Amino acid sequence: METFNIKINGMPIQAPKGSTILEAAKLASIDIPTLCYLKEINEIGACRICVVEVKGAKSLVASCMYPIAEGMEIWTNTPKVLESRKKTLELILSDHDRRCLSCVRSGSCELQKLCNDLKVEDEGQYDGSRNTYDIDYSAAHMYRDNNKCILCRRCSAICENIQGIGVIGANERGFNTVIASAFDMGLGETSCVSCGQCIAVCPTGALAEKDYTDEVFAALADPDKYVVVQTAPAVRAA
Ligand code: FES
Repeated sequence: METFNIKINGMPIQAPKGSTILEAAKLASIDIPTLCYLKEINEIGACRICVVEVKGAKSLVASCMYPIAEGMEIWTNTPKVLESRKKTLELILSDHDRRCLSCVRSGSCELQKLCNDLKVEDEGQYDGSRNTYDIDYSAAHMYRDNNKCILCRRCSAICENIQGIGVIGANERGFNTVIASAFDMGLGETSCVSCGQCIAVCPTGALAEKDYTDEVFAALADPDKYVVVQTAPAVRAA
């Protein structure tokens, strides 16, 4: 196998020709954070969390997309790289439901972990217009909360490329971009089979398994629209 000699953070590394910087770094156990990347399923360079510095490149590059070349020198943790990742996280948070304490994914949320790792505070410095969405409780076993979606597109990629269904995808453009089903149908009205693969790859709490509590909240929020189906023993009155 043909290999290239590169340096990451000054360390000499040999990696197969055709590898991306992210793949080469992994071979050398050098951690580069990612949010949208899913190997061979979602390699679209959407989130820019994985940016690194490459000698001679005019700007930071997305390591999950950028192929290595012979003699390349790469730095993964310079002040410029860390500053860029922090700014990206702050921008994501500016249009994100930040009520982490009540989120089902608190403690296992990739976005939350990255913010903690990079010491990104919820300072709201980029707060401005905000997208707000109704939560889609229409599917039998799961719900979709686009207020927590970071548009990484892992869900739509796995739905289409692995499950072969493709019921969700990106609609609209720019600030209005939203992950939705065709004609904005609720998931329950589509051919979604509730396989849960999208939940497994979602980096935040935008997709989650439904439980009795969720149905109660949905019914309380909109009693005309939702019927609570009792799926767990009723709470005994005091
Ligand atoms: Fe590389 Fe998202 S992980 S751009």
